[in-house]
Amino acid sequence: MDPNADLTSRFLQLACGNWITQMLHVAAELAIADHLAVASPQGLTAEELAGRCGADGESLFRLLRGLASLGLFAETDPRRFVLTPLAELLRSDHPGSQRQFMRMLGGEHYDAWADLLHSVRSGESAFRHRFGEPVFDWYGHNPERGAIFNGAMTDFSRVETEGLLATWDFSRATHLVDVGGGRGQLLQAVLHQHGHLRGTLFDQPAVVAPVAVPPALAGRFAVAAGDFFTAVPAGGDTYLLKHILHDWGDDACLTILGHIRAGLAPGGRVLILEQVIPPGNAPAPGKLLDLNMLVMTEGGRERTPDAYGHLLQRAGLRLAALHPTPSPVTVIEAVAA
Ligand SMILES: C[S@@+](CC[C@H](N)C(=O)[O-])C[C@H]1O[C@@H](n2cnc3c(N)ncnc32)[C@H](O)[C@@H]1O
Repeated sequence: MDPNADLTSRFLQLACGNWITQMLHVAAELAIADHLAVASPQGLTAEELAGRCGADGESLFRLLRGLASLGLFAETDPRRFVLTPLAELLRSDHPGSQRQFMRMLGGEHYDAWADLLHSVRSGESAFRHRFGEPVFDWYGHNPERGAIFNGAMTDFSRVETEGLLATWDFSRATHLVDVGGGRGQLLQAVLHQHGHLRGTLFDQPAVVAPVAVPPALAGRFAVAAGDFFTAVPAGGDTYLLKHILHDWGDDACLTILGHIRAGLAPGGRVLILEQVIPPGNAPAPGKLLDLNMLVMTEGGRERTPDAYGHLLQRAGLRLAALHPTPSPVTVIEAVAA
């Protein structure tokens, strides 16, 4: 028995992670889980599935066999497949759906990651190196992919929204402004749960254009379009930034935080939701997300508690407390200095 066999197989599993990303991406693109969800409980053969999603039967069989070996889908009879609990997450209608996230990850994110070496050598964005412009500009010019990105953020956000609602007491807040709030799912979830609260969703014009005010929130939910490097809606007593500061370097963050500090009502709070980096070698998803920021953004990064403390101080704010949530994000609570 080779004493390094275990080590080698662990290494190879890590090394071939890009294969698995593409396998999941193709399953998401072809909506395999959606087709199986509406099929009979006996599932579908690879050939039946291929007919429904427009694929080659033998190649799709090989994809499904590979995914089944990882716990996604199960082959119950020769060439016949059903959903598994893990594969359910690829359904579009699952409450914990990761389908749009997987469509995003296997597309431009995947291509940009192929230039990680460029980022590590130069400190520059691999995305800009490959696509010629910053990622949010590119999404503006590629609205179909921008829609998938927004869907991915929604997928990503569900568990974080539940974590926020379980962690932060909104009963003292009156006007919540979600800065870079995407299509507003988080803000709407908070407003649905807290009937006294008014909310303003703020994001880029193209992102908020399709957002309609749900009748149940009429009079309490406002939508504002703009550029957070120019201004943010003023007068909120709670400003929320989820996965905003990690997109940017310190100078850009200071501009955004400066506008928030200027608009913050007396006694107000700023809630920053990010994956805080713990010290040492402990596994933490934020340590990998940090590399995604290196690849995808211009200076974005995940930060340690000390780095947040320092950044907030420079913006005229003070880090008041860190509130871990049941999701990977921490609520970083800041107040006026
Ligand atoms: C990583 S996403 C986070 C979205 C949302 N907060 C969430 O956690 O799901 C970053 C958001 O910042 C928005 N954004 C980027 N640049 C912006 C700008 N200059 N002004 C306003 N919003 C911007 C994007 O449109 C996007 O919705």
